[in-house]
Amino acid sequence: MYDNNPTLENIGKKIDPKLQGQVIEGFDNQAFEKRFYIESYGCAMNFSDSEIVASILAKEGYGSTKELEEADLILVNTCSIREKAEDTVRRRLTVFNKVKKRKPGTLVGVLGCMAERLKAKLLDEEKLVDIVVGPDAYRDLPTLLKGAEDGQRGVNVLLSREETYADISPLRMGSNGVSAFISIMRGCDNMCSFCVVPFTRGRERSRDSFSIIAEAQDLYDQGFREVTLLGQNVDSYKWTNPANDEIIKFADLLVMVARVHPDLRIRFSTSHPKDITDDVLYAIRDYENICNYIHLPIQSGNTRVLELMNRTYTREWYDQKVKRIYEVIPDCAISADIICGFCTETEEEHQDTLDAMRNAKYTMSYMFYYSERPGTMAARKYEDDIPLEIKKKRLTEVVKLQGEISLAANLKDIGQTFKVLIEGDSKRSDKDFKGRNSQFKTIVFPKKEGLKKGDYCQVKVLSATSGSLIGELV
Ligand code: SAH
Ligand code: SF4
Ligand code: F3S
Repeated sequence: MYDNNPTLENIGKKIDPKLQGQVIEGFDNQAFEKRFYIESYGCAMNFSDSEIVASILAKEGYGSTKELEEADLILVNTCSIREKAEDTVRRRLTVFNKVKKRKPGTLVGVLGCMAERLKAKLLDEEKLVDIVVGPDAYRDLPTLLKGAEDGQRGVNVLLSREETYADISPLRMGSNGVSAFISIMRGCDNMCSFCVVPFTRGRERSRDSFSIIAEAQDLYDQGFREVTLLGQNVDSYKWTNPANDEIIKFADLLVMVARVHPDLRIRFSTSHPKDITDDVLYAIRDYENICNYIHLPIQSGNTRVLELMNRTYTREWYDQKVKRIYEVIPDCAISADIICGFCTETEEEHQDTLDAMRNAKYTMSYMFYYSERPGTMAARKYEDDIPLEIKKKRLTEVVKLQGEISLAANLKDIGQTFKVLIEGDSKRSDKDFKGRNSQFKTIVFPKKEGLKKGDYCQVKVLSATSGSLIGELV
């Protein structure tokens, strides 16, 4: 779901620069009079939403540009998950404002979770912002833009119980042409005490299963070979077919998407440990194209802290879930999200998190230190009492341990052969391909004539680092 390089430098930087302000591929930009520029921050849901926004804007006569100076409309799709994420956006807004001063008439819009959290206050705080649009209000963009063109600054941050944008075909931006996201649900009904998402994204709702299958089929036909089904808590996906009242749950949906084509790989994110069922595990086991990889955020390895976090599972319950996953799918990779230094966390409780990591043998983790978010239950009820330097120290330990666990696991892969989906040239050399195995590990290997991006091949692992595997074609 995010930058998969769990090093200290990458913490909090979940932004892939390649995904910023990318030109939309696959349609003729010349045909458009006006240009929009969009930068996306935060989770995959936001990147996926930007593709919906691009689709809505294309109908309004806006083509995309990756040059700020060329844009008639500058958009930033924002994240509120940690304070740092919001700080980054504020810094970007000062840059956009400079462009606007040089080129009067340029419109600036704030979309996404920060728009939802701050609402009209954003217009007061950021004098040069023209429109503020929440995640459920993108259909209103054309109206808001017309108003803004006439000098009327506008806000729409209404959250919806129904909106899933099911009928809007996303314009794939900055895509490698191999992997794509499909949003299957929106919002979140869990109330983890640290988390701002229920406030910024609203109530949970599931998208029409048939529109999901149709999107997967369409992507396959366009040459895509991997889809990631997205939601804050995919395991609680539940859609009732109005034709026959049949209830389609996440495991059913997984199988339906897997049947689109055996060469279409299926991934999903994120699973909540309390909701992932055996049926989901069986689907993974039984369908070769449903990848053997589960992102299963633990947050903390200590039951008391988990309770304060309102995660609704205990450490024992989590360990049991991990055990069950390895029982059903022995070669499954598991990754996690971890928060260090949550309110009142003791040194011993922090050690429990390290212990849980060793037990689960995560192939990777997204690791953060706790950042208090206004309005959340934790902000209202608990004191953010762990000093920053302790938070950072604990985070450093978690990152270091994850590096060791990843390296040990990757070294074990040496000598094994994996089916790899080629994603393109490796970062370092155009003589090498990079791709991923089912377990979501990156493998780099020398190219061979006749093979191309989007093809599957068998690669034997020759060496490994904590971040990737190096191999050769067999
Ligand atoms: N729905 C997903 C996570 C969405 S947010 C889930 O439940 O797993 C992604 C991650 O950001 C969370 O898993 C958590 O580890 C982290 N996070 C959320 N709020 C945070 C906060 N206030 N401070 C630090 N990290 C936070
Ligand atoms: Fe936030 Fe918890 Fe919902 Fe994830 S499950 S989005 S962490 S409230
Ligand atoms: Fe951020 Fe909103 Fe996603 S707060 S993590 S962009 S749901």
